[in-house]
Parts: sequence; C-alpha cells; structure tokens
Amino acid sequence: MTVPLMDIQAQYGPLRAQIDAAIAGVLDSGRFILGPEGRALEASVSERLDGRPCVGVANGTDALVIALNALDIGPGDEVITTPYTFYATAEAIARVGATPVFADIDPLTYCLDPEAARAKIGPATRAILPVHIFGHPADMAAITALAREHGLAVVEDCAQAFGARAPEGEIATFGDIATFSFFPTKNFPGMGDGGMVVCRDEALAERVKRLRFHGSKDKVVFEEVGYNSRLDDLQAAIIRVFYPHLDDWNARRAQAAAWYAEAGLGEHATLPAVAPGATHIYHLYMVRHPDRDALREALSGAGVASAVYYGTPMHLQPVFAGLGYAEGDLPIAEETARTALALPMHPNLTREDVAEVVAAASTAGVLS
Ligand SMILES: Cc1ncc(COP(=O)(O)O)c(C=O)c1O
Repeated sequence: MTVPLMDIQAQYGPLRAQIDAAIAGVLDSGRFILGPEGRALEASVSERLDGRPCVGVANGTDALVIALNALDIGPGDEVITTPYTFYATAEAIARVGATPVFADIDPLTYCLDPEAARAKIGPATRAILPVHIFGHPADMAAITALAREHGLAVVEDCAQAFGARAPEGEIATFGDIATFSFFPTKNFPGMGDGGMVVCRDEALAERVKRLRFHGSKDKVVFEEVGYNSRLDDLQAAIIRVFYPHLDDWNARRAQAAAWYAEAGLGEHATLPAVAPGATHIYHLYMVRHPDRDALREALSGAGVASAVYYGTPMHLQPVFAGLGYAEGDLPIAEETARTALALPMHPNLTREDVAEVVAAASTAGVLS
C-alpha cells in the first residue's frame, strides 16, 4: 500500500532507544508484576484525570469486565450501551451475566444517543455504558444527567479515545468508572495487551485491585472470585515512554483531519463531525459514503488502504440473536455500519499522503 491505514513503526521508531532502555530497566529490576513501573503509570494517568485512582489491568476487555464486576452488576441486570462499537464492549456486559440493551447512536458523532438510551431505561437497568467511539467523546453531560435522574451507574469505555475531551472536561472523569485499552493500534498504545480502570473513588479502586488479583488483597485471604488480570511492568514501562507524546500524537492526528477537510475530501465523502466544544482525537478517521464499496475500490486502486469498522452492529451479531433484535430496530447504527469507512490516520500522516488519499477518493465521484 502506498498510504497505509496506520503506521505503528513510524510512531515508535524515534523512541526505540528509550524503549530499549525501559525494557532493560525492568529486566535489571527483576520486578515484573505489580512493580514500580505499573504503579508509576497508574500515578501519572491519575494525575491527568483529576486525581481519580487508576488500576492497571491486562487488557481493555478485562478492564470492562472488572469495572462492571466492581459495581456489582451481574445476572438480572441490564446495561444500556451502543450497538456501534467493538464487540468487547457488549461482550463484557454479557460476560458478567448481565444483559446488554442496545440503544441507537447519534448520526453525527456515532456515539450513544442519550435520548435513545432514555427510552430503554426499565426496572432492571443498572448502568449506562457509552463508548467514546473512534476518538469522539460521547455526550457525557446528557448521559450523566440521565444516570443521576434514574440512579444508574455510568461506565465509560475510553478504549479508543485517550485524551479526548467533552466540553465539560476530559473523558474518563465523568463516570463512576472508566476503562482504557493499550492495544498496539490504539491512539495511546502499548506493545502488547494492556488496560486501565479509572475509578470515582478509592473504595472502588480497592475493589478493582482485589478483583485483578484473584479477589485477594494479600494472596493469603481470598475474599471473592476474581481474575488474574494485571498490567505487567514491561508493558507499563513502555507505555510510560509513550506517555509524554500522547498529546502531540493526538494533535498530529487532528492536524491530519484538518488537512483532509482542506484538501476537499468533503466533496467525495461525508467527513467526521465534531460536537460543539468537543475535542476529537481521531483514533480512526471515519468518513461515510452511500456507495462504500465504490469508494473502497477507488482507494485500493490507487494503493490507499481503508477498512470497515463495524460492518455489523452488535444488536445484529449472532451471539446476541437471543435478545430478539431485528434489522431496522436501530436504523442509525445500521445505516452507519453500511456506509462508514476508515481512511488512513496516524500521527505521521503527511500532507502529501492526505493529498494522495483525496485524489484517489475523487475518482469515486462527487457526493450529490
Ligand atoms: C471500544 C473498545 N472497547 C474495548 C476494547 C477492548 O480492548 P482490548 O483489546 O485491550 O481488550 C476495544 C479494543 O480492542 C475497543 O475498541
């Protein structure tokens, strides 16, 4: 491909010597699990997020499962979430024995629509789980107000949006609990699996710490059934090398998004929207096109990579067939799933790359 979708090597390349030194430091220390690197990462993320206590875990999926578990959400409970997300969001709800209840999305931001969520609240509802999808913050003012009105918990899935901001503040500072993923392709990555749980208070963080460690505080007394889900120190040390670059990487993504708009991509596809006062970090750069296949072909013919996220919304996935949803139930998510396409986006994308992508897209025609 002349223009790849992402370029992880280009992002890590300049930091190679620091990464090597960080790895060597952990090897020399002999502390691999729940050691100083993990604690230091938890402390710096906490500092950024209004002092909220943070707990490193093995991946973003475990972070969600443990978060729901820590809020005592389980069988008989319903959690309202978006159908337009990576499967892990809904899977985590099902994994703790609760039922995901899918509500439609906002057509501009692709995040959970608070009014659609309101319509799904029932006697078994325990929590609302918005996802800051593709790097755009969900409408947290409306979602937290709705949750307060009905006495519901809020769990933020921040896997795709480290650094994104709603008008009222940075994501992960709104809910009772929030989760991150450090999967290597995320906007704030690691070099393997990793995750983080951000808690509203110390009591909840203590519970999360216990859950990540077999339900025990001390490996002697086992108080509940937990998990073996820790962020290891090698991973934490590498993520700490990346941490000072997070805001710069996000800014460079936003710059690339601005270049796409300036170069006239909007004539050939519907560009991603940004809600007033919000900061989008463009984990993925999603455009829409009524004939997505034609756009994909035009791009690939010119050596430009693209990818479909998420072609089948969660309510229509076979695993959730038993929940009784049918096509047409959540029309905005379904329409988005049919028309959305990810174009190249990463911090090292150049203005020339962007021009190539736009030139390729233009061969698919002008939007009517
Ligand atoms: C929205 C969302 N939630 C959860 C996850 C799960 O994260 P992980 O792959 O680290 O388990 C991912 C990414 O993979 C994601 O994109």
